[in-house]
Amino acid sequence: MERIRIHTYEKAFLILSAIMLVVFLAALGYAAFGMGFHLPSRSGEIRPSEVATTPPFDDPGVHETDDGLEAVIVARAWSFTPAEVRVPAGREVTLKVTSVDVVHGLHVEGTRINLMLLPGQVAELDYTFDEPGEHLMICHEYCGVGHQAMFGRVIVEEGSGS
Ligand code: CUA
Repeated sequence: MERIRIHTYEKAFLILSAIMLVVFLAALGYAAFGMGFHLPSRSGEIRPSEVATTPPFDDPGVHETDDGLEAVIVARAWSFTPAEVRVPAGREVTLKVTSVDVVHGLHVEGTRINLMLLPGQVAELDYTFDEPGEHLMICHEYCGVGHQAMFGRVIVEEGSGS
């Protein structure tokens, strides 16, 4: 039987492709498991009409809980509640965000915080602000005529070191 001959260049590119696949998979695996990068998860469901009476969204703001520091934010056309979020630097904070009306987004400038806010779903993300400072948080999904006015601030204060 005749052996199948593969052209030298084709063979080289096949090998190169295989190596790239392995490298990209390794990079993805390292980012996900080594560095803890992951997509913000859908952590629960909530009735949009009952957001105001459902914990933790009945009390938006930054709170100390048994599970750590939590920043609860409610999005609506066209504002965030609270509009000003104060968190300490150097401490992990769990963002819990939902929308009461239409699809909004939440991006905190200068960070990788980028959430889709779907009515009926709770978006959750853990994040640690390393440096004190001020960040703009903006809605990045077009949500109606007031979209461009939908923003707030995240103020990162000098951490207590705890
Ligand atoms: Cu909310 Cu754009």
